[in-house]
Amino acid sequence: MGRRQCTLDGKVAIVTGAARGQGEAEARLFVAEGAKVMLTDVSPEGGAVAEALGDLAAFSQQDVGSTADWERVVKATTQRFGRLDILVNNAAIYKMRSLLDTTDEEFDEITRINQRGPFLGMRAVAPAMRAAGGGSIINISSGAGLRGVRNVLAYATTKWAVRGMSKCAALELAGDRIRVNSIHPGVIETPMLNHNPAAFNEAMVRATPIGRIGQPEDIARMVLYLASDAAGQFHAEAKIGDAHVLFGNGYFCDPSMSAAIYIYVPDVDATFKRAVSLGAKAIREPADSTVRSDASIFSHRILLYGCA
Ligand SMILES: NC(=O)c1ccc[n+]([C@@H]2O[C@H](COP(=O)([O-])OP(=O)(O)OC[C@H]3O[C@@H](n4cnc5c(N)ncnc54)[C@H](O)[C@@H]3O)[C@@H](O)[C@H]2O)c1
Repeated sequence: MGRRQCTLDGKVAIVTGAARGQGEAEARLFVAEGAKVMLTDVSPEGGAVAEALGDLAAFSQQDVGSTADWERVVKATTQRFGRLDILVNNAAIYKMRSLLDTTDEEFDEITRINQRGPFLGMRAVAPAMRAAGGGSIINISSGAGLRGVRNVLAYATTKWAVRGMSKCAALELAGDRIRVNSIHPGVIETPMLNHNPAAFNEAMVRATPIGRIGQPEDIARMVLYLASDAAGQFHAEAKIGDAHVLFGNGYFCDPSMSAAIYIYVPDVDATFKRAVSLGAKAIREPADSTVRSDASIFSHRILLYGCA
């Protein structure tokens, strides 16, 4: 495949939460692939990231929970770069809190940023994408948006909502050639993990068959693929990044999932065996038609369906 198929030459993107972590990795990869990128973040530190990326990047400080901020960011993007093709709804906050310990204020704040934020974003960008002849919206959910997880009720609730919103929006926007997909990362090494006790993170990594934590760049490659025209057939897919983490915990597939899911994994042999041993029906395919020059990371994809 071609690096041509995943190129973003000529495309314009907004990436939220781009001051660090996965958002920063996505913005960097997008610019490397030829896109013009408006990085946004509530933290002004995104400005330095954009500056280092040069003329293809700009920064706009934004609270993703604010309607007015979204109107301003979309306007600034189209004025600066002339069009809008891609939105990555990446910004989110995370708190480890049990049901009984979650305060009203915490629930509302997590919901405002993680759930209302992507809703406002999709609604704000759709007209500009329609004017551009189509587009791609990638909503970053989580493995916690595919299953129940202890002690993160509010966060997981918003990530289920992101998955649901993605499917609903995908149906409504398909006629405008706007694709909407959600990505469900496993455990990725970013500052967000600092909210967990170290022992908790270590246990999650130990539970992975390949024993390594996911990197922001792993997810960025998936985001790149979905943003590119190579992903033209993908609407409302639930994609699991770092799937080995989910396999390690036995959650290889959401039992309520009616659609097939593709999983991109670093270690296809271990993952495939694990999937089949857990009762999944699976098809293993080379990823050469999907992910560009990343054979060492995502050499294959696995299609799971009819999970047990
Ligand atoms: N790290 C993981 O293990 C993991 C796992 C699954 C899903 N995710 C998801 O991946 C995405 C990226 O997270 P990350 O790991 O890079 O975390 P991170 O905490 O490193 O980055 C999040 C970014 O969002 C920004 N942000 C927070 N509130 C904001 C607001 N109101 N408006 C605009 N920006 C705001 C932060 O300033 C930060 O730069 C999130 O949606 C997260 O829920 C992360």
